[in-house]
Amino acid sequence: MAAAAQANGKYLIPFSSRLKEGRALAQDVWSIYNAANLPADCINLGQGYMNFAPPQWVKDAAEEALQTVAANHYSHPKGRLRLREAISNFYSPAFGKNLDVESEILVTSGANEGQYSVFTAFLEHGDEVIMFEPFFDQYLPSVTFNGGKPVYVPLHPPSKANLKATSNDWTIDYDELRRAITPRTKMIIVNTPHNPVGKVFSRKELEEIAALATEFNLLVMSDEVYDCLVFDGKEHIRFANLPGMWDRTVSVYSAGKAFAATGWRVGWLIGPPAIIQPTLAASTRIVFCSNSPLQEAAAAGLEQARDRNFFETQAKEYEERRNVLLNAFDKLGLTYTLPEGSYFVLLDISRLTWPDNYHFPSSIDGRGRDFKACWFIATEIGVSSIPVSEFYCEEHCHLGESFARFAFCKDLDTLRNAGERLQGLKKYLKE
Ligand SMILES: Cc1ncc(COP(=O)(O)O)c(C=O)c1O
Repeated sequence: MAAAAQANGKYLIPFSSRLKEGRALAQDVWSIYNAANLPADCINLGQGYMNFAPPQWVKDAAEEALQTVAANHYSHPKGRLRLREAISNFYSPAFGKNLDVESEILVTSGANEGQYSVFTAFLEHGDEVIMFEPFFDQYLPSVTFNGGKPVYVPLHPPSKANLKATSNDWTIDYDELRRAITPRTKMIIVNTPHNPVGKVFSRKELEEIAALATEFNLLVMSDEVYDCLVFDGKEHIRFANLPGMWDRTVSVYSAGKAFAATGWRVGWLIGPPAIIQPTLAASTRIVFCSNSPLQEAAAAGLEQARDRNFFETQAKEYEERRNVLLNAFDKLGLTYTLPEGSYFVLLDISRLTWPDNYHFPSSIDGRGRDFKACWFIATEIGVSSIPVSEFYCEEHCHLGESFARFAFCKDLDTLRNAGERLQGLKKYLKE
């Protein structure tokens, strides 16, 4: 990467070449569409974090933990026993087996560090990791920092003629997937419910992937951080539960998504001992252990969730939030992909226009049309979103250029306000 080499030239001590891969040095979308660069009153539907706090009873548990001595100190690298027990009790019925707290569960510093640790534990230099595009952007540097080579397989967007597309209309071409597999393929990442498409993969789709995973002996990372956010009566299928998949699957979860606490950096992995143990060895060297008091709070969350009907209520609340935003898009007359899970909507922005002489910052020079559209919407209308081509490799980024991602993990008033502002786009829409 020429820009990276140039940047390195400015440094007295050259930094590691691994930063030149995986877009690690490129300015990422989060900093381009950051509040600091946008109008002061811009409503942030860009980055996927909530504008509301975790439930009071979960926060109370965090405060209680801070009052103890033990929870202010190191935890076991596997995670605090109370949290591992809570994870086991909560997830064992869903996995149809009694999850062993010593060997089948690992608490991590957010899902992200858990995923990084899996890559550290399993990738040899040059091993290939298949990811479906659009993909959660952290996968890319996490793979390349660990010597892996990302291999991209696109989810194909619905046809433009489909005016009522749902996330289910984003599809895999299984021949294309098969062709992407080489003797160096080690892993495949499956993300359901999906960020940013909102797709909840069907059993049939996951079975097709499972068949290839068996045929080519692949490790499967099943990123299920949005497992508690599934709408319209759809069923979340845990990949590890498919026949024969437990032994080759690591499932990934996040307290940040489950309890509206993205800054807590607590997550967990579930899988067979042969995957969890090497990952524990990596995670112990990377962070040693995750932060202790918030592990206690996450434990309280899982312990009480069932009695409080917490996840069912929370999913209904998110469904209501989603519908507020979708109604605004309907009123505006723009099409979108109806998300069946997670908390993102992809709005089709291909009909959006802007004045020829409109001034865009140099940070988006050379980027896709969606970068301009998101900038225009944020500065003229006051609602920020994220350009979807960022979630593709360069070769396939045209597939994402027609979409902007809006996050609806915001309170209803904020979403209503954003919806009203978005009506201001009407005059910029071409037929
Ligand atoms: C698909 C996906 N996986 C993993 C993560 C990381 O989760 P955490 O915040 O727990 O690290 C995110 C966060 O946005 C995500 O969208």
